[in-house]
Amino acid sequence: MTVIPVDIAGRPYEVRIGSGLLADVAGQCGTRLRKPHVPIVTDANVHAAWGAVVEASLRAAGKQALWRILPPGEATKSWEHLSATVDWLLGHEVERGDHILALGGGVIGDLTGFAAAILKRGCHFIQLPTTLLAQVDSSVGGKTAINTPAGKNLVGAFHQPALVLADLDALATLPARELASGYAEVVKYGLIDDPAFFAWCEAHGRAVLAGDANARAHAVATSVAAKARIVAQDEFETTGMRALLNLGHTFGHALEAETGFSNRLLHGEGVALGMVLAARFSARRGLMGEAEAERIAAHIASVGLPADVRALGLNVSGGQLAAHMLHDKKVDAGRLAFLLMRGIGQTFLTKDVSLAEVSDFLADELKG
Ligand SMILES: NC(=O)c1ccc[n+]([C@@H]2O[C@H](COP(=O)([O-])OP(=O)(O)OC[C@H]3O[C@@H](n4cnc5c(N)ncnc54)[C@H](O)[C@@H]3O)[C@@H](O)[C@H]2O)c1
Ligand SMILES: [Zn+2]
Repeated sequence: MTVIPVDIAGRPYEVRIGSGLLADVAGQCGTRLRKPHVPIVTDANVHAAWGAVVEASLRAAGKQALWRILPPGEATKSWEHLSATVDWLLGHEVERGDHILALGGGVIGDLTGFAAAILKRGCHFIQLPTTLLAQVDSSVGGKTAINTPAGKNLVGAFHQPALVLADLDALATLPARELASGYAEVVKYGLIDDPAFFAWCEAHGRAVLAGDANARAHAVATSVAAKARIVAQDEFETTGMRALLNLGHTFGHALEAETGFSNRLLHGEGVALGMVLAARFSARRGLMGEAEAERIAAHIASVGLPADVRALGLNVSGGQLAAHMLHDKKVDAGRLAFLLMRGIGQTFLTKDVSLAEVSDFLADELKG
């Protein structure tokens, strides 16, 4: 097992990464589970795959799981499910000193974390991430949220978990497309500031996706360490440091919006293509070499992720695609904040990008 500390001032916690953590969830949580009944929020897919394993561990420790099983999918991050889940927790008389368990991907983690943030003005929660995306990204750092008709993640809170248990075994039941989508966020850490890790991804990315245990452990641990380092320096996204985690997300968000946040393009797939576009846009501005941008595209394509916007078959202009960016949360007083690259592992934040420039670039990418 690898243990990565997240040094948030005042509320440090551990991310434990390894095999068999869900089967030992009661032991891992220890005295944090102080009552005989343990509230667990999950979704139906995860419950079907891992519910019995978690329940057996609790039962052996003399505890009983109280399940709240939500429908799988992004639509679950809603006011309706939040309010019903909060009422359910109140109905079970969950107190501020109790820990709520969030068993699932980013959807369950974000919703449960937000419920924990507002329940009695804040109670504890433990992340049990079961997707690669949740293990390397969403379970660490304390961002919690739901979606509203106005957009994704527009309502939420910063609320850090008390503990994160990333069980690599959980990835065995994850659909291949979800796995690849989460892998995009792994590559992201290499591109942000760790060129050696990007090179490792080039050599071992396919092994990660194929199920190689050592490769998975290394990919998750390196990613979590990178995220932990960034959020410890900028917990509330005020210094610009944490914004680096949005590499590829501005282009990705526009693509997700254009495809209606549907199964046509999963979040990580949008991020993968978004990082390629950020690299090509950086190359077009003369910031990085074209060959280096194409090296990124080649790696993304080699693991089956999208690296060419034309493959999406969108029926839009560059301007229409760029217009989605104006509705991004990251817009600050009307200015587009952009993450560009001076090279692999040299990402930086800039605000000197105009919408017209992005529109022209996207028009050319759509033409090919
Ligand atoms: N809080 C953050 O910092 C942060 C960061 C990135 C993303 N997010 C959020 O995360 C969400 C996406 O998370 P996600 O990609 O994990 O999606 P998800 O939670 O929807 O899970 C993807 C699918 O996999 C299924 N699943 C999960 N684990 C499984 C397992 N072990 N075996 C079989 N099936 C399993 C789920 O039921 C679901 O159908 C988005 O809402 C996004 O906004 C949050
Ligand atoms: Zn993301």
